[in-house]
Amino acid sequence: MLDIQNLSHTFFPGTPNAVQALQGVSLHIEEESFTAIIGTNGSGKSTLLNAMSGTFLADQGKILLDGQDITRWPEHRRAAPMGRVFQNPFAGTAAEMTLAENLVIAMRRGLKRPLSTALSRQVREEMAERVASLKMGLENRLDNPIGTLSGGQRQALTLLMATWLRPKLLLLDEHTAALDPKSAAQVADLTRRIIRSERLTALMVTHSMQQSVELPDRIVMMHKGKIVEDYAEERKGRVRVPDLMAAFDRVKRGELFDASVAEVVAEQYV
Ligand SMILES: Nc1ncnc2c1ncn2[C@@H]1O[C@H](COP(=O)(O)OP(=O)(O)O)[C@@H](O)[C@H]1O
Ligand SMILES: [Mg+2]
Repeated sequence: MLDIQNLSHTFFPGTPNAVQALQGVSLHIEEESFTAIIGTNGSGKSTLLNAMSGTFLADQGKILLDGQDITRWPEHRRAAPMGRVFQNPFAGTAAEMTLAENLVIAMRRGLKRPLSTALSRQVREEMAERVASLKMGLENRLDNPIGTLSGGQRQALTLLMATWLRPKLLLLDEHTAALDPKSAAQVADLTRRIIRSERLTALMVTHSMQQSVELPDRIVMMHKGKIVEDYAEERKGRVRVPDLMAAFDRVKRGELFDASVAEVVAEQYV
């Protein structure tokens, strides 16, 4: 369904600030699978998602979606097949607009000719029904501005909007990280429910190892712009948080080792 081939990207190339954010990442994502992406800060997780959604065009490599080469597609063209939710509950929705108005935008995503702004009773009923499925009582607040919602309620609504038209690919970038623990758990649970019931293909960057063990069916670990671990199938079934911590330690120790070897080599050649 999604094929990432040897993707590389450097920010500020050819300057002293150059950052090799992606270094030859290859990843095959199966239809209707749910994958978590974990990794240290700055390991390239967001950059990978941004490269998929076209926030920038990667320097090298290919991105195929359902066999179609979308590597050079601009971001707006990828918006129809891809739903996204970010960390910030204030991103992705318009605060002054009502819940209903925001949902209408979600319903029209990717349409060339927008529908009329008037909401038929039928559309409103469908809206209320789907909002009620969030189990937050928001169906009674469709005409309130989104700005009046809590962070958790907003992320739940953003998730509903991102998945309203059943995207080919759902991209979540630490979408529970800015929430209090209770809201984070609520939104995580909702995420699992929506992905399973709509049978979505999803990629979720998360800082929470617990979440990555509990929610998805695969865990990919990144470090310094590369994929360093891939837990799938039986291996994913067996992995627990301490195993992931140990893997992080191994990766970091490997790095120390590399650094000390480099120092020894450098000393020999001074
Ligand atoms: N738009 C950008 N411009 C310059 N550097 C960036 C940009 N986005 C990310 N980076 C750099 O690329 C590296 C990977 O960042 P990122 O993908 O955001 O990491 P993660 O999401 O894993 O924490 C970091 O060193 C970061 O500073
Ligand atoms: Mg990030």
